[in-house]
Amino acid sequence: MSTTTPFPQGFLWGGATAANQVEGAYGQGGKGLSVQDVMPRGIVGPRTAEPTADNLKLEAIDFYHRYAEDIALFAKMGFGVYRFSIAWSRIFPKGDEAEPNEEGLAFYDRVLDELEKHGIEPLVTISHYETPLHLAETYDGWTDRRLIGFYENYARTLFERYGSRVKYWLTFNEINSLLHAPFMSGGINTPKEQLSDAQLYQAMHHELVASARATRIAREVAPNAQIGCMVLSMPVYPLTPSPADALAVMDFDHSNLVYGDVHTRGAYPGYFLRTLREKGIELEITDQDREDLTNTVDFVSFSYYMSVAQTADPAKKVTGEGNIMGGVPNPTLEASEWGWQIDPVGLRLVLNQFWDRWQKPLFIVENGLGARDELVEVDGVPTVIDDYRIAYLNDHLVQVGEAITDGVNVLGYTSWGCIDIVSASTAQLSKRYGFIYVDRNDDGSGTLERFEKKSFGWYAEVIRTNGASLTR
Ligand code: BG6
Repeated sequence: MSTTTPFPQGFLWGGATAANQVEGAYGQGGKGLSVQDVMPRGIVGPRTAEPTADNLKLEAIDFYHRYAEDIALFAKMGFGVYRFSIAWSRIFPKGDEAEPNEEGLAFYDRVLDELEKHGIEPLVTISHYETPLHLAETYDGWTDRRLIGFYENYARTLFERYGSRVKYWLTFNEINSLLHAPFMSGGINTPKEQLSDAQLYQAMHHELVASARATRIAREVAPNAQIGCMVLSMPVYPLTPSPADALAVMDFDHSNLVYGDVHTRGAYPGYFLRTLREKGIELEITDQDREDLTNTVDFVSFSYYMSVAQTADPAKKVTGEGNIMGGVPNPTLEASEWGWQIDPVGLRLVLNQFWDRWQKPLFIVENGLGARDELVEVDGVPTVIDDYRIAYLNDHLVQVGEAITDGVNVLGYTSWGCIDIVSASTAQLSKRYGFIYVDRNDDGSGTLERFEKKSFGWYAEVIRTNGASLTR
C-alpha cells in the first residue's frame, strides 16, 4: 500500500441517502404524502392514484426508527459527513401551509443529535424528489410560480431551525433532471407527453429562482451556511470524430451545464437564450427574478454514475439506459446490470470541466454501483463479498485523486446509498449500492436487519488512510 495520498487533509469522506428512499414511516409523525408515495415502480412504471402496499418506499429501510443504529454504523466506517434529505412533507405535510409540523422538525433534530454525537458533519438536501403530493395535484408542481413561495417558506423554516447546526446545504437534488422526469423531479402532475416545452422551461425557471432565493435567505438567517446547487453530471463523448458529432456533444452538454451556469454566474447564458428563441418560448421572468438569480452558490455538488456518447446521425441515435437522461451507448465501455455504462475516467473529466468552468469548490455527493448482492455466511456471520463494488469505487476514487492532482478543488465525497435503499428509477431494493446490507427484498419480505458487506471494511480503510489505501 502506498503511504502517499492526493486527498487533502480535511477531505470529507462519507455517504449519502434521500428521505424517501430510506425513512419509510409513511403517514407517521404527521407526514403528508409525497410524489414518491404514488410511484411504486419508480420512474419506469405508472403512478397510482393512492399509495399501494407494493410501494417499497412506504416502509423503505425504516431509517425513521433505526437512524441511531445506522448512524452508529456510518461512524464505525469513519464517516466525516453524511448527506441526507429532509422530507418536505414531514415539515409541511401539504406543502402550502403557513406553519410547519413540529413533529417532523423534531425528528431531524434527533438525527442531527446523533450525528453530532459521532462527530459527523451533516450535508442536507432540501428537496430530493419528494415534493408534497398536494402541490403536484393542486398546483401542477413547479409549473406554478406559487411553488417558489412555498419552497421559500420551507427553506427558511429549515435554516431557522437547523442553521446553527448544519453547514452544508443543497437546494434541489439533480435540478437538471426536471425536464426528463417532471413528476418525480418537479412534482408536475400533467403527464410528460402532454407538457409543452414552454411549461417545462417555465418550471425550470421557477426552481432556479427558488434555489437562488434560498441562498439569499440563508445569507440572512444562517450566515455560516454554505449553499450548493446539485446537478446530475453526465460527461459526454462524440460517437465519432466528426464535427457534427462534436456539435451534438456541445448541445447535450449545454442542456445540462445551463443549471450550473445560472447557479454560479447568476444569469442565463447566451446559448440558453438562443434555445428559447428558436423554440419560440418567451419565459415569464420578472425584474425581481433577475435580481434573485444573482444570489450565487458557494459550491457545486453533483452525482456521477456514468457517461454517454452523442451523435448527430439519426440512424445511430438509439438512447441507451442510464441515470434518468441516458444517451447513446459508448461502444468502448462496459455497463452495470441496469445498463449504466461504467467510466471512472469520466469522473476526472467532469471534475476538471466543472472546476475550469465555474471555479467553485466541488462536492461529489453521489457515486456508486447498483448491483444484486448475495448474502453469504463467513465464519458464521452474514455478509456480502462485493468485490465488484469495491473495484468500481476504488477506480472512481483513484480518478478523484487524479483530478485533485490536476488542481481541482474537491471538498468531499459521499458514496450513494451507503446503506441499501430503495432505488429511485426502478423502486427496487435488489438494486443495492450499500456498504451495509439490509435484509429486505423486492416483494417486501425480510427482517430489516443490517449486515456489514466486505466493502464496509474496505471503505473504512480508505477513510482511515485518507485515500492512501486505494489501489492505483
Ligand atoms: C440519482 C438520484 O439519480 O441516482 C438518487 O439522486 C438515485 O435518488 C440515484 O437513487 C441512483 O439511481 P437509482 O435509480 O439506481 O436509484
